[in-house]
Amino acid sequence: MSVIQAPRGTFDVLPADMARRAVLEAHAERILGAAGYARIETPTFEATELFARGVGQATDIVQKEMYTFDDGGGRSLTLRPEGTAPVCRAYMEHGMHKLGQPVKLWYLSSFYRAEAPQRGRYRQFWQVGAEAIGSAGPDTDAELIVLLADLLLAMAVREVRLRLSSLGTPETRAEYRRELAEYLHAHEDGLSPEVVARIDLNPMRAFDAGDRTTRETMRGAPTLLDRLADEDAEHFARVRELLDGAGIGYELDPTLVRGLDYYARTVFEFTSDALGAQSGVGGGGRYDGLIEQLGGKPTPASGWAAGVERILLSASEQPIAPDVVDLFVAVAKPDADVAAFALANEARGAGMSAQMELAGRSLKGQLKHADRIRARYVAIIGDTMDVSLKDMESGAQTEVHSTAVIPTILRGSRLA
Ligand code: HAM
Repeated sequence: MSVIQAPRGTFDVLPADMARRAVLEAHAERILGAAGYARIETPTFEATELFARGVGQATDIVQKEMYTFDDGGGRSLTLRPEGTAPVCRAYMEHGMHKLGQPVKLWYLSSFYRAEAPQRGRYRQFWQVGAEAIGSAGPDTDAELIVLLADLLLAMAVREVRLRLSSLGTPETRAEYRRELAEYLHAHEDGLSPEVVARIDLNPMRAFDAGDRTTRETMRGAPTLLDRLADEDAEHFARVRELLDGAGIGYELDPTLVRGLDYYARTVFEFTSDALGAQSGVGGGGRYDGLIEQLGGKPTPASGWAAGVERILLSASEQPIAPDVVDLFVAVAKPDADVAAFALANEARGAGMSAQMELAGRSLKGQLKHADRIRARYVAIIGDTMDVSLKDMESGAQTEVHSTAVIPTILRGSRLA
């Protein structure tokens, strides 16, 4: 019989990988918590319509990357491909507009996209994300950007660059899209067939194209940054001023295209040159129209998400403290296991980390194992009520009464 493997594009998070993820989680908790963000978790699947309406019909995500299924009762559900639309749904569903605004939320969750797997691109992946709902100010955008920069710095992500742009309002964008589509139609000969096919669906995607001819052609294309309405230009100038004040370096990139349709005004993306093809570490922006799009009242909002695997791939290795094992309980004869079991339990009850022999090893094998798991003490249970307590660091070994084992370790006194 063939052995079953994990589905393509998925991976196991093994105990050795878990430690680095825990470090990321702790940094996120600390950095976002200090800025008033509270953690949220939404369901793994949602009504398909949430993403169709939220992320946008014309996006790659909705067109070809969603894991959509029938729930058996004729309702279409989709494994969440991203977290912003679900968080907005939760904001509306729980009447969070009644809370003090903006409502600041963060998440660390798994997401699902049926993309072609490669290094840094998976079908199930994790994102850490932050959303500030209910504030239109440029300071909210700048704060969010600074927080992601802080997180990437804390994780020692290498060769980080920040690209920044503004998309203006939907009206400006619609007008600009018409202008851009006109330009693209007039230059169809210099564009790849794929780009030509999408001109009327989403002309902005032409800036995303990888082939040289299209890129050449796009160099002469009008840019949205030059077409911003006064209010949007001012908003963007203020975001830049705040970032400059915070000492955050960025490149203005009027061709910055995000793969989701809900953005308005500020958009940004952090990349790492250490990553290769899938260089996007994290990105986001302002999405003032999304909640209305989902049936709510007009509510300004802004946020970002960063890929956990991409952060870990681009981060410098940091030393991870090994797990501490205070006590390993060894048995010197077969029927000592009841006493060993009781002692290990008692030690854990007293707040220590304690393990006992579970594999039927010889005493020599048990001591070797205790050494491998870096146990600080080994208690060897034998015939009598006395226990041999061995200090694994000094090598010293003394006989103590079984009731004295835990107090001796808790005193932390080294055996000599
Ligand atoms: P996104 O740019 O689609 O934005 O994804 C954010 C990050 O998730 C990417 O920069 C990347 O690091 C990671 N990511 C995306 N797809 C994959 C994949 N297939 N495998 C591994 N990592 C991946 C969003 O999802 C928006 N919801 C961000 C946002 C929040 N905007 C406003 N608020």
